[in-house]
Amino acid sequence: MDKKPFIEKILVIENDQTVRDFLRDLFSMKGYIVKTASKGREAIDILSVEYFPVILADLILPDLRGTAILDHVEQQGLSTAVLIVTAYRSIDLVIEALRHGAYDYITKPFAPQILLHRVAMAMEKIRMEEIARDLSSRIVYATEEERRRISRDIHDGIGQSLAIIKLTLKAIRNKLIDSAEIIADIDGLATHVEETMEEVSRITKNLNPSCVTEVGFLHALRLYLETFSKKTGIQIHADVSERLSFQDVEQEIHLYRIAQEALTNIAKHSGATKVNIRLDLEEDHILFSIADNGKGFDEPQEKGKCGLGLIGMRERAAILGGKVYIESLPGQGTTVRTEVPYGSSKSPGVI
Ligand SMILES: Nc1ncnc2c1ncn2[C@@H]1O[C@H](COP(=O)(O)OP(=O)(O)O)[C@@H](O)[C@H]1O
Ligand SMILES: [Mg+2]
Repeated sequence: MDKKPFIEKILVIENDQTVRDFLRDLFSMKGYIVKTASKGREAIDILSVEYFPVILADLILPDLRGTAILDHVEQQGLSTAVLIVTAYRSIDLVIEALRHGAYDYITKPFAPQILLHRVAMAMEKIRMEEIARDLSSRIVYATEEERRRISRDIHDGIGQSLAIIKLTLKAIRNKLIDSAEIIADIDGLATHVEETMEEVSRITKNLNPSCVTEVGFLHALRLYLETFSKKTGIQIHADVSERLSFQDVEQEIHLYRIAQEALTNIAKHSGATKVNIRLDLEEDHILFSIADNGKGFDEPQEKGKCGLGLIGMRERAAILGGKVYIESLPGQGTTVRTEVPYGSSKSPGVI
C-alpha cells in the first residue's frame, strides 16, 4: 500500500492583508507550508485541488460567510481541522461556526504563542486520525490476506487428508466381503467424513470468497442469501437493479464482505424475521442497503464497544471511496446503508 507522507500545510483565509502576511510569516517560520486566500471563493477553489490538514479562517469574509468554508469541508468529507479567527464581539458567529463543524476558535487580537499552540494541536489531531485510518485500512488488508492463507491451508491440508480418508474407507469397504457390522461402521464413518468435507468447504468459502472472483458479486451474493435464509429461517427480499454490473474485483469483494458482516450481525444480534436488501445505482453511486426488522440498537453507544464488524464495514467502504451509514434505534430494526462510487475503486488494487 502506498502511503503519502503527512505534510504540515495550513491554508490561511483572511481578507486583511496585514494580518494575512503576519500569519503567513509566523507559520512559515515554524516550518509549516502556508498558502493564503483573501476571499472565500478563492479558498474553495484552492481546497478543491489541494489538501490542507489545517485551515485558519476569518469568519467574516468579503464574499462568503465563513461557515460556507466549513460546509465545503464537511461536504467534501475532508479530514481537516478548521480554526476560526474572530473578534470578541461575534460570539454568536463562533457558536454558529462550531455547529458547522469548526474545530476551535481564536479571538483577535491573538498572542502568536497561543495561536501557534492551537494550530500545533489541530495538526497533531489530524495527523493522529490519519495514522488511525491508515492502521485500520492495513488491518482490513491484512485480515483479507490472512483469511486467504487460512483458507488455503485448510483446503490443501485438512481438505486433502479428508479426501484420502474417504477414498481409503471406500477401498477397505470393497475388500470386506462378509462383515456386515464392520461395513456399517465404515459407512457411518464415510458419512461423517462427507459431512466434515462439506463443513470444511463451507469454512474455506467463507474465508476466501473466491466465488466472488469466479462468478461475480451479484451471483455470489444470491448464493449467499439463499444459504443464509435456509440456515436461519429469516425471510429475505432482495431488490437488485438490472443496471448494475461490476468490473472491479476489489469493489466486489469489499461489498460482499460488508453484506456478510451485516447479515451475520442480523443472525447473531437482531432477532429479525425479515430482511430487505436493495442494491441500486443512483447517479454515480452504488446504494446498497440491508434492513432488518429486528430489535435494533443504540448505535452511538455500541461505538464504544469493541466489535470489529461495524468498524470493518466502514473501513471497507472508505477504501472504496464511500461510506457506511447505520440507522438503528432500539426496537425499530437496523438498516446498514453503504454508498460507494460506481466504477473502479480509489485505492491501489491491493487485496
Ligand atoms: N442488525 C443488528 N441488530 C441488532 N444489533 C446489532 C445489529 N448489528 C450490530 N448490532 C450491535 O452492534 C454491536 C457491534 O457489532 P459488530 O461491530 O459487528 O460486533 P460483533 O458482531 O462482533 O458484536 C453488536 O454487538 C450488537 O450489539
Ligand atoms: Mg459482527
